[in-house]
Amino acid sequence: MLRTHNCGELRIEQVGEEVTLAGWVQKVRDKGGLLWIDLRDRYGITQLTLEEGRSSASAMETARKLGREFVVQVKGKVVERYAKNDKIPTGAIEIDVQSLEILNAAKTPPFVIEDETDGGEDLRMKYRYLDLRRGTVRRKLELRSQMAIAVRNYLANQQFVEVETPVLIKSTPEGARDFVVPSRINPGEFYALPQSPQTFKQLLMVSGFDRYFQIVKCFRDEDLRADRQPEFTQIDCEMSFVERDDVLNTFEGMTRHLFSSIKGVELGEFPRMTYAEAMSRYGSDKPDVRFGMEFVELNDVAQNKGFNVFDQAELVVGICAKGCADYTRKQLDALTDFVKRPQIGAKGLVYVKCNTDGTYKSSVDKFYSQQDLAEWAQKAGAQPGDLLLVLSGQTASTRKQMNELRLHMGSELGLRNPNEFKPLWVVDFPLLEWDEETERFHAMHHPFTSPLKEDIQLLDTDPGKVRANAYDLVINGVEIGGGSIRIHDKATQQLMFKHLGFSDDEARAQFGFLMDAFEYGAPPHGGIAFGFDRLCAMFGGSETIRDYIAFPKNTSGRDVMIDSPSAINSEQLVELGLTLR
Ligand code: AMO
Repeated sequence: MLRTHNCGELRIEQVGEEVTLAGWVQKVRDKGGLLWIDLRDRYGITQLTLEEGRSSASAMETARKLGREFVVQVKGKVVERYAKNDKIPTGAIEIDVQSLEILNAAKTPPFVIEDETDGGEDLRMKYRYLDLRRGTVRRKLELRSQMAIAVRNYLANQQFVEVETPVLIKSTPEGARDFVVPSRINPGEFYALPQSPQTFKQLLMVSGFDRYFQIVKCFRDEDLRADRQPEFTQIDCEMSFVERDDVLNTFEGMTRHLFSSIKGVELGEFPRMTYAEAMSRYGSDKPDVRFGMEFVELNDVAQNKGFNVFDQAELVVGICAKGCADYTRKQLDALTDFVKRPQIGAKGLVYVKCNTDGTYKSSVDKFYSQQDLAEWAQKAGAQPGDLLLVLSGQTASTRKQMNELRLHMGSELGLRNPNEFKPLWVVDFPLLEWDEETERFHAMHHPFTSPLKEDIQLLDTDPGKVRANAYDLVINGVEIGGGSIRIHDKATQQLMFKHLGFSDDEARAQFGFLMDAFEYGAPPHGGIAFGFDRLCAMFGGSETIRDYIAFPKNTSGRDVMIDSPSAINSEQLVELGLTLR
């Protein structure tokens, strides 16, 4: 080893010991006859001192050549510091340098390698290996590593077997586009990268593995957002001979264990809410339940009073913002502008101030009496001092808009504390979703999800009403995981493909292997996959998963460090059968 100790471990007890350290030069302070160097590695920072006359001339000379981020090896004696630094664990000691060797010189880095840096996002991504030297970034990846180990230990203790599934496969429909890889030895043919190992984990159940898990890369060619990367990691799991609650209880246990062992947070039992309830109470299938401000439907008190906009609406819905009756004109205008932004798309916003003197002031006073508004307030549970915000229109879109407004108000009022964790299971999702563009139904989760038994008979008459035995784990408004009980018989799977608009031949060509397997004794099974990057980001208190991935893609799906994707040369194209010579 080029060192006897790391830069974070020496304490007052080691005073007098001869040690060898190696690391990066964080900072050099040269006060003429006296020189201090902060030496850094993954474990911490240790101060080195050199003094004219006391230290060797060659060490002094070498020290004067050092620049930021030089890699050095130093031998010296641990001594007690005169001026101690209680901000770092090694702050009671320093190294009285006897010899100093430069292991490698370094160019001046393009940004400061400290927790607070002057480097912008693009620059830090281009030099990600330098960014990763910074403690704040490194600690995020250390958290990720700790979590992966905790997941493995927990699941292994529960008899789960980790199995690797292939990466060069055939399309698995999870609703995004596939990344494809041309096959050189099969010209004109392509592999697809897995959007998830869904079909393989089901096949492992047919094989009798009973409990499978894998911490696995998945690939989806979709538009990027703060919580989406084209390649991301799932904790992918499947279990045999289970019903919904067995899966939920198992993974609620795992989630609770992670929170308790890694964050010291004890979570109670996770509430369960149907999709229909989540939509009507919060306008979202991933409600942030850290705060209330639930939807109040106002149709019966707000309609038929001569206000055309409300009268024509399918839904009139409000939220009550506690203590906001004193919002100024400017604040209310800002809220109106917020809901009218094209991304949200509301036509306007109605407000009712419940004044502290018991009167009401609304933006629709022309149409509603004080008595009318008192009824709204009563329905919404609004007290004097509160503010009602009301939107109206077609049910689905109005709920979506109100969800955005609710989250915005929650943030504005400081109700979304990142150190508070409120999980819930959302269950009974619709099985199918109508797609306006292609004018057909899509599987809301994926085509292998089992419908609820009691709804199967609706498949022919009212397919949009069929509920799936599917569930999501939502924490603080983030979809952390999703899964379902699967179809495990060929006939139901065929029926499902038929309703998704597959011909028998198409279904056979794409998923014949799975339906064949179902004929050889497939056990009832179900599972779930967690978004591991999202879980890590949540544990770290961030909404951006990029920070928790060692080498992430930027918002255009590029790795700016290695400059990928990139063109390939013409020989490669020819070899892959992608162009004619
Ligand atoms: P689903 O598509 O819901 O289910 O994915 C599971 C979880 O993966 C995370 N996730 C993502 N994270 C980062 N970037 C992305 N682009 C991305 N896409 C999804 C989410 C999500 O909840 N095979 C099924 C699981 C099953 O049925 O068992 C599946 O993949 O946190």
